[in-house]
Amino acid sequence: MRPTTPFQSALEKVNNGTKPEVVAAELVASMTIDEKINCLDGAVPFWVGIKDITTGGYHSRPFRAAKVERLGIPGFHFSDGPRGVVVGEATAFPVSMARGATFDPELEERVGDAIGKELRTIGADLYGGICVNLLRHPAWGRAQETYGEDPHHVGEMGAGLTRGAQRHVMATLKHFALNSMENARFGVDVTVDERTLHEVYLPHFKRIVDEGVACVMTAYNSVNGEWCSQNEALLAEILRGEWGFAGFVISDWIFGVRDGVKSLQAGLDVEMPYRMIRNAPIVAALTEGLITEELVASAVTRTIATMLKFNVGKLPLLDRSVVLCKEHLVLSQEVAEKSMVLLKNDSVSGDKSLPLELKSGSKIAIFGRLAAARNIGDGGSSDVMAPNVVTPLVGIREHFSNCEVVYDPGLSFEEQMQVAKKSDVAIVVVGYTKEEEGEFIGDSEDTVDMVKQIPRQDDPVLAGEYEKYMRDNHYFAPDELRIKSRNGTFSIGGDRDSIRLLDEDVQMIRAVAKVQPRTIVVIVAGSAVVMSEWINDVPAVLMSWYSGINGGRALANILSGAVNPSGRLPFVIPKDESHLPFFDRNAKKITYDYWHGQWKLDRDGNTAMFPFGFGCSYTQFSISSPEIETTELIKFRCEVSNTGSLDGATVVQVYAGLKDSEVERPKRRLVAFKRVVLRAGETKQVECQTSLQSLATRNTKTHSWFVEDGLWNFEIAQFSGDPMALLLEFSIRKRIDL
Ligand code: BGC
Repeated sequence: MRPTTPFQSALEKVNNGTKPEVVAAELVASMTIDEKINCLDGAVPFWVGIKDITTGGYHSRPFRAAKVERLGIPGFHFSDGPRGVVVGEATAFPVSMARGATFDPELEERVGDAIGKELRTIGADLYGGICVNLLRHPAWGRAQETYGEDPHHVGEMGAGLTRGAQRHVMATLKHFALNSMENARFGVDVTVDERTLHEVYLPHFKRIVDEGVACVMTAYNSVNGEWCSQNEALLAEILRGEWGFAGFVISDWIFGVRDGVKSLQAGLDVEMPYRMIRNAPIVAALTEGLITEELVASAVTRTIATMLKFNVGKLPLLDRSVVLCKEHLVLSQEVAEKSMVLLKNDSVSGDKSLPLELKSGSKIAIFGRLAAARNIGDGGSSDVMAPNVVTPLVGIREHFSNCEVVYDPGLSFEEQMQVAKKSDVAIVVVGYTKEEEGEFIGDSEDTVDMVKQIPRQDDPVLAGEYEKYMRDNHYFAPDELRIKSRNGTFSIGGDRDSIRLLDEDVQMIRAVAKVQPRTIVVIVAGSAVVMSEWINDVPAVLMSWYSGINGGRALANILSGAVNPSGRLPFVIPKDESHLPFFDRNAKKITYDYWHGQWKLDRDGNTAMFPFGFGCSYTQFSISSPEIETTELIKFRCEVSNTGSLDGATVVQVYAGLKDSEVERPKRRLVAFKRVVLRAGETKQVECQTSLQSLATRNTKTHSWFVEDGLWNFEIAQFSGDPMALLLEFSIRKRIDL
């Protein structure tokens, strides 16, 4: 077919080999200044937009921006989020933190592929789900949206999701940068030094930029005294300068931009999702000659070039039958099964507590309000309207159909004890919901002043265009699943106010465990829970996460042993909150130093309750014959054996350390990992690799990298600090500048 619009001709040129940047520059040169300016924000007037979003429009249609009707430029269409598509009904996958626990980037790629396909049924071409802010503290309300506390692991998982999603759509990496507090996100300034920034908080962002991610979303907070949306050091110097990012940059949502002109100068391309803060000052600055039309054109060119590169406008639209299709439901369950982490599994009367070996007619008592709740995570931007979620209760009833399953949420502690006593096993489901942790959607005094910058009135032409877009794009989801129906409001969510279980959950565990020796605690949460006050009362604890649409089935398979647990903790669980970094959810200022998570515990000499990378199995593994080979990459080889009598999977983890280092560094830092599946009795050769960069130190004088000389040690282990780890040493004689 002959191209009929300038945009279609541009796509054809790119398909024929001309560079997208060149073609985009030509196209942008043919735009009027108004058309260019319209591409600098959502071009959706604020008032019509905000009315839509607060009356059911949020999660009813993708957010559109950068459309130029006259030239046939279709614009891009953004949709969240990390655990699945948020517009209309969709498959809910286990949250990213759960997926982090799989330590399986290939599996994550398959999740990205599935989400990418579902996005193409609603016309979305920009995916907002690659959230990789590092878990600095488990109280962070949106912890569940990222993969964990370790930069290498988070980077590999995020790269997997990006690869999968970008087979179908462009993907957005967020929130750049240091956005790991929720309630204070609109106001907090994070101070960070250069080494900490580059060695701790940015390596995973860089990894995903190297993977070819199309788009980066700035964070709400400020870093070193400047808002992320106008932070030249982050956007111009690091992202575009040092890393060579060639895609486009968008802001986080309402009130994501502070100073319109500065944001453009720093390299933010599109203010999302509406016309809020930047349009009026940019128009004024152009009129007064304070900024040039070229500056505007360069931002628009980056956006259009990326759209051309990803074939936006010609991406196939998929049929709705792909949504919630069997393959995606099965995948969601597979991920849930691979993500659950068995933390403790002591013996009761000579037998391990799990798996449950129950005779027909046995009695299973289930306790806890969460056992029967549709509880798949945050209720903010990452909410997925999945129907027919399989709860723990439904999953267990279905699986153990030959047993008597008792559940009555209305019982007092005394009544629960009576039931527990008369049962063969008690399963206590505890943890959180979107009310205790999630995106904070409440009032914030930090945005009050910004309201003054919003245009008083809507541009009637743009308002009309958006109203038409609303009419043409509405994806229905049943009322009981819709955010709007929850009393017309969002859940409050936010950072947790405690990282222990709720008091009533602790009391319930203690009451039940007092009378039932086989008490299994199942925790539903998005990150670490401190368990010291009750852990010794129970023989078995399983971290089941917010486990997606089929989570209850996955749980039953793990409990019964139909699936052998293989999840590993993507963060440390400390014995006490004082072992973690300082956290104040209302902070206006905070310093992020080098130390958090397992690294901090190691430095301070605090033993973890459960270390990073830890998880039990129903079988045992051993590692032998370690080897190291250094070429351009550092390769590690070993043999892994399943020495038990059940099939299973473990994760080989390689930690690097340097004694007598000239700088303070973690005792051990993850540099490579590999999930290995082994039949009972089987042995496999395993190889994994890393680059010299993973050992590098930031030179803060020259702003470059070097690898320190000395005797490096590598531990091949099954978790951080594993006493069974095998040690390899490697000497670097002369410092290497990278
Ligand atoms: C969140 C982003 C999200 C956006 C759009 C914001 O409030 O911080 O993560 O992509 O909303 O829903």
